[in-house]
Amino acid sequence: MADLDVNTLIGAAIAARNLAYAPYSRFAVGAALLTASGRIFSGGNIENAAYPLAMCAERVALFSAYAASERDIRALAVVTPTHDVASPCGACRQVMLELAPHARVILLNLTGAVRYTSPAELLPHGFGPTQLQEQ
Ligand code: THU
Repeated sequence: MADLDVNTLIGAAIAARNLAYAPYSRFAVGAALLTASGRIFSGGNIENAAYPLAMCAERVALFSAYAASERDIRALAVVTPTHDVASPCGACRQVMLELAPHARVILLNLTGAVRYTSPAELLPHGFGPTQLQEQ
């Protein structure tokens, strides 16, 4: 992936924080992903007064891409307003592993800290579709 693409994606993830609906946590997260076709899908976290129904920014972006029939995801950038780069929650790791297994994952905060990782590194030994056949 070219540096240009990475920087564009990071910019989109930062901008996606404005899409967050986070009146309860006031913790706006932005995510943006790049598909093989060159499209960018982004999302912010979306909360609910029934707190457990909140949806993380990562899954909003991933589901948006899939909803548009875009399944070949090359990279996913996530921006959190944290001191250190934050790590996606367990639910997002599970979803990433299945929906974007080969994506380059770029985790950032707002002060320039960056960590490059992958779905498999974030969720080693994760549950996958092949295991459903082993019964
Ligand atoms: N959140 C995300 O959107 N992504 C993460 O990686 C961590 C947490 C959201 C969920 C909730 O709306 C808020 O941040 C506080 O947990």
